[in-house]
Amino acid sequence: MKVLITGVAGFVGSNLAQRLLVRNHTVIGIDNLNYGFLRNIEEFKAHPQFQFIMGDIANPLILKEVKADIIVHLASQKIPRYTNALRTLEENYLMLRNVVHKCLMDKSKILFASTSDVYGKNPKIPFNENSDMVMGPTTVRRWAYALSKMYGEQYIIANREEYDLTYTITRFFGSYGPHQNLTWWGGPQSVFIERAFKNEPIDIHGDGMQTRTFTYVDDTVMALVNCIENNKSDNEIFNTGSVSNSEITIKDLATLIWKLVNGPNAEPKLNFIPYSNFGNYEDVMRRVPDITKLRTTFNFEPQWDLERGLTETIKWQKPFIK
Ligand SMILES: NC(=O)c1ccc[n+]([C@@H]2O[C@H](COP(=O)([O-])OP(=O)(O)OC[C@H]3O[C@@H](n4cnc5c(N)ncnc54)[C@H](O)[C@@H]3O)[C@@H](O)[C@H]2O)c1
Repeated sequence: MKVLITGVAGFVGSNLAQRLLVRNHTVIGIDNLNYGFLRNIEEFKAHPQFQFIMGDIANPLILKEVKADIIVHLASQKIPRYTNALRTLEENYLMLRNVVHKCLMDKSKILFASTSDVYGKNPKIPFNENSDMVMGPTTVRRWAYALSKMYGEQYIIANREEYDLTYTITRFFGSYGPHQNLTWWGGPQSVFIERAFKNEPIDIHGDGMQTRTFTYVDDTVMALVNCIENNKSDNEIFNTGSVSNSEITIKDLATLIWKLVNGPNAEPKLNFIPYSNFGNYEDVMRRVPDITKLRTTFNFEPQWDLERGLTETIKWQKPFIK
């Protein structure tokens, strides 16, 4: 197949491109390198079935000259913890509108990267694809990201109803691994690994009792490959995460990383930062996926437990520690 990936130089995009090339697909990748890195695509940039285009997906002209069977739309602004909410809302909409129009014109399928954040504060754990989305007030800017993805999902489904767009929506739950962004943009594990190597206290937001489930990127990518190669994914939404029993508190994640880096007897240095330091911010206290649909549709089973995945990630991240 010919697959176009937006955000190819980012974390998920570069891992996905690499896997698709191994599976003999042709890949066109676009990225403006705002949050991605050329080093992420270095290994396969010269591959004869790969083409890289540097450009902004918010500009409709960038998609004009390319055509693919499927567009995997990964390029995105994320939670505006340190960036700005207006950019999250505007850029995510503009990019998606351009990609959807392109898909309709060329009769390509869209695979849209959504997020577990769309379930928001729903207390009913685990979340399945039909669970309610419980958002906080619009005055809290962190919800701008979840709202932009919810809007994106609705926009795609409305285009299915009106114009017969073919889609798959994947809601990622905390993916991590090689090529992850080394700042908070890449998730807490990136920063925790760096602090542990430097023997500096790990900053934990709140009391650290908030939980997440983390998915090693190989599992995230394998789920995406299933959705790309198999038309059972057409017009469906999939939680894309790890097994429910991998739920871990952020405090325990920090401790685990500290011990994997500094040895099993090392005492972790943790620095708790009250949420009030971030101004008008709200966190999600638990986030656990039900991946029954992914399992039953594709016979998919995550292969990586957290300790093995983190060990691999730490090995990859070590040379970047200054
Ligand atoms: N990584 C996760 O755990 C996670 C969790 C939930 C959802 N997601 C979603 O998955 C997708 C991929 O996430 P990621 O972690 O790989 O993010 P990432 O930031 O590493 O990669 C996104 C890439 O898109 C590029 N990009 C952003 N805006 C662009 C624009 N206007 N034009 C061209 N390129 C642009 C960035 O430079 C970056 O390389 C995103 O849509 C994200 O919202 C990721």
